[in-house]
Amino acid sequence: MNTWNGEVLRISIFGESHGNGLGCVVDGLPAGIRTDADKIRHELNLRRPRGGNTTSRKEDDDYEIVSGVSKDGVTCGTPLCVLFRNRDARKGDYNTRIPRPSHADFSAYVKYHGFCDLNGGGHFSARLTAPLVFLGAIARCELEKMGILSAVSIKSIGNAVGKSFYDTDFRDDIFINTDCEFPLIDASCRDDMLRELETAKEEKDSVGGTVEFCMKNLPVGLGEPFFSSVESSLAQLMFSIPAVKGVEFGRGFELAKMRGSCANDEFDPVGVEEKIKGMNKNAQITYTNNAGGINGGLTNSMPLIMRVAFKPIPSIGQGLQSVDMQSFEPVIVKTEGRHDVCAALRGAFAVRSSACICMYDFLLKHSQYERNSHGYSE
Ligand SMILES: Cc1cc2nc3c(=O)[nH]c(=O)nc-3n(C[C@H](O)[C@H](O)[C@H](O)COP(=O)(O)O)c2cc1C
Repeated sequence: MNTWNGEVLRISIFGESHGNGLGCVVDGLPAGIRTDADKIRHELNLRRPRGGNTTSRKEDDDYEIVSGVSKDGVTCGTPLCVLFRNRDARKGDYNTRIPRPSHADFSAYVKYHGFCDLNGGGHFSARLTAPLVFLGAIARCELEKMGILSAVSIKSIGNAVGKSFYDTDFRDDIFINTDCEFPLIDASCRDDMLRELETAKEEKDSVGGTVEFCMKNLPVGLGEPFFSSVESSLAQLMFSIPAVKGVEFGRGFELAKMRGSCANDEFDPVGVEEKIKGMNKNAQITYTNNAGGINGGLTNSMPLIMRVAFKPIPSIGQGLQSVDMQSFEPVIVKTEGRHDVCAALRGAFAVRSSACICMYDFLLKHSQYERNSHGYSE
């Protein structure tokens, strides 16, 4: 089933890249959320194709809310359905008998006995992240109303590496300044990254990249033990984004090289007292944050830090060995024209949106707990 079962929200995605359209249905959104069309537009614009190093496909990502939101933009509490019509679909551009190496074409063709629409990746296209970004915009606004800020930054493209949130002091302006098309914590690596993109494009190639996500001002205790830990739920959503091949939390794989004496985040007694007594909800509870804000699958209120790795785009202009899936004749496949160079560029906003959806879902669950809470036991 193509449905994400969150703690409170249920999200189903439908549609194909070159069919009539695509969208999602979300069940469980509380009634009374005032959606902000400008903020939704802003998030969608960040994700949408814009030529240059992204695909030249022309989609404005205009959407139609079919249900679940009243005329004045307030959620009704009933299932919300949003629809994105495909405007620049070109089925004729694809030979769906010839799978692009490392795309979903071959696996989907066999799984669905040749019946699924594989044009431009069909249901497996990154265009299906548009409805996620729509929902992410609603979730991000709701989080902001609670003072919870989120940001994403391009961490690397090919061999060009940028700064990490770990290199910052998590000031609010970092969250504001990275809310742009090419989000970077520090612009000094921008030229190197652009060079990686341009060289790959000139050589009719694609390139991989990583993005880093950060969310701050989260309360303690979001997440559920074991199967719905914050890491497992975020990872599920991250790995649902096409081309994502790795997810790390906190210092991630670096932790495997470290000793506990360096890796373990020592507590700041003052911060812990302020936090537990509710004197300062933004108190810093540990001196370091190698865990990336999560212990035991639960948030600990330190900034949540996650990195996501995107593989190179499968469609490239260089010839690669493929096969006609009906005649089984060998075919050299080349994708000329419309494709991205690096999934991390637009994928960054799918990461931010999906992470906001996940953490908002945990907060909805948490608010149910809080209503039944009787304080700390002695
Ligand atoms: C934002 C974004 C844009 C993408 N653009 C393309 C593209 O133009 N051409 C392409 O072949 N793959 C593109 N992809 C990647 C494919 O959708 C993805 O590799 C494919 O669905 C196979 O899934 P997998 O890589 O997760 O195994 C893009 C991915 C993202 C996140």
